[in-house]
Amino acid sequence: MTTLNKPSKLKSLIENCLYYEYTKAADPVGSGAISKIPFAEFGRELHETGKTRIIALDISERLGCEGPATSPALCANFVRILAGEALSANFNATSQLFYVMHGNGRTAFDGMDIPWKTGDFVVLPMGEETRHFAGTDSAFYLVHDEPLLRYLGVKANFSRFKPTLYTSEDSLRELDKVRIEADAVNRNRISVLLANKKLDQTLTVTHTLWAMLGVLPKDAVQLPHRHQSVALDLILDCDPGCYTLVGTRITAKGEIINATRVDWKPYSVFITPPGYWHAHYNESSSDAHLIPLQDAGLQTYLRTLDIKFVLPNGETSAP
Ligand SMILES: [Fe+2]
Repeated sequence: MTTLNKPSKLKSLIENCLYYEYTKAADPVGSGAISKIPFAEFGRELHETGKTRIIALDISERLGCEGPATSPALCANFVRILAGEALSANFNATSQLFYVMHGNGRTAFDGMDIPWKTGDFVVLPMGEETRHFAGTDSAFYLVHDEPLLRYLGVKANFSRFKPTLYTSEDSLRELDKVRIEADAVNRNRISVLLANKKLDQTLTVTHTLWAMLGVLPKDAVQLPHRHQSVALDLILDCDPGCYTLVGTRITAKGEIINATRVDWKPYSVFITPPGYWHAHYNESSSDAHLIPLQDAGLQTYLRTLDIKFVLPNGETSAP
C-alpha cells in the first residue's frame, strides 16, 4: 500500500474537491445547473424512407449528457431494415426492447434465432452482437438502457433474464381480456403491462424497462396521473382528435393547469417528462393504441416511482 503523505502527492487527492453552501447545490434542476427533461416529438417520417439504419431519437445535447440518449437512462430509436437486408447492433445495455411496427424477419442473438413480425415485442438482455434480418421492409421502435450504463461507467456483463418474445397474438388477446373486464367495471384505463416471471422485484418487462400496450377507446378520457419515470410513448393507430395534456400542477378538482397539448400521430413518439401530470383524450371516432416505454423497472426497484392518479372526486392517490 502507498501512503500519499507528501504535500505534492496529496494534491492529486484534493484537487477536485468542491464545497457548496447547501442551497447552492441542493436542487441542480431547479437552479438550472442541469436541464429538465424536455418535451420532444419524433415523427414517423424519420423511419418511413431511406436506407437500412438505426435512427437514434437523440436529445443528448439538450440533456447535457453524452449521446445518443432520449432520457438520462434510456435511448429510443427507430430501426429501418429493407427487405432482404441485415442490420447489426451492439449496445452496452442491460436491456433492450423492440416493437415491430411493421415487417417480418428474425434476430440472431446469443446463438438463438428469434422470429418476429408486425406487432411483436422482442426483449433482450445484455449480449454481444445483435443481428437483425428482414424478410420484408421492416421498422422497429427500439429502446435500450445504454445511457444509464454510460453514466455509471460500467460494462454490462451479466444477463438478468433470457430473451423473451411477446407475440402480437398473445399481447392483443391479453388486451382484449382486460377490455372485457374494464367494460364490466367501467374502468377508463385499458392496458396490459408486459412482465417477466424472473423479475418479481418489479413486475416489469425487464429490471430497468417498463412496457405497456394500451387502447384509448373512442370518447375516452383518462384522468391525469404522474410518475417519476420518464415515458417514451409510441403511438400506434389513431385518428385526429387523440391527444395528451401535460403539465406540472393540477387544480383542487384534478385538472391540469397550463397544460401543454401533444397531438397524437400514428407511428410517432413523444416524451412525457418525469413528474408531470398527464391525461389522455380520444375525441375521434376510432379507438387508438399506444405503447409507452419507461425506465420504471429501475424506478420501481429504487422505490422512487411515486405514481399517483387523480380520482374521479378530484383527490389524488396511489393506485
Ligand atoms: Fe404515464
